[in-house]
Amino acid sequence: MGDKIRVMYSEEEVDKRIRELGEQISKRYEGKTVHMICVLKGGVFFMCELAKRITVPVTMDFMSVSSYGAGTKSSGIVKIVKDLDQSIEGRDVLVVEDIIDSGRTLSHLMKILNERKPSSICLCTLLDKPDRREVDDVNVDYTGFQVPDEFVVGYGLDYDQLYRNLPYVGVVETE
Ligand code: PRP
Ligand code: MN
Ligand code: MG
Repeated sequence: MGDKIRVMYSEEEVDKRIRELGEQISKRYEGKTVHMICVLKGGVFFMCELAKRITVPVTMDFMSVSSYGAGTKSSGIVKIVKDLDQSIEGRDVLVVEDIIDSGRTLSHLMKILNERKPSSICLCTLLDKPDRREVDDVNVDYTGFQVPDEFVVGYGLDYDQLYRNLPYVGVVETE
């Protein structure tokens, strides 16, 4: 519990960036309804704040996934723990994540979602850690910030399930 957290992006900086993304996304989806899909649990804070900055009609659904096999993410296989409530066929889908790290979660998830025949599908992430990428088939359409390979928390990102509720993006300082 005594972890030191250093601020990487302050609440004001994150808010400003989310407003910018909201504006871009609103333009991209003019005349349409954006069907936002939140990847639980990390995506939930970003999803809510981003949704508030989108000016076209928005609907939302939630999905929870976990990695299979060997107990590590490296299997690249994703198990659906909680599926979407609604069909995405014919919808304009925007998948919302807190961070893309190895890319394995999203690589697999985007494949699963694409098979369900959305009219379009885009990916929006608050943070991207390109240095950690292990796959090359994740196309990120909207990124809040590119971050170096540090242990980031806050705004949905956890360290052992803690710190998701920090209103800023921070780094856990290890000594
Ligand atoms: C984290 C994060 C992304 C994923 C990124 O989720 O929220 O969903 O890992 O990692 P990857 O690009 O290497 O696949 P996590 O599995 O920790 O679950 P959580 O969102 O509930 O914290
Ligand atoms: Mn996650
Ligand atoms: Mg996590």
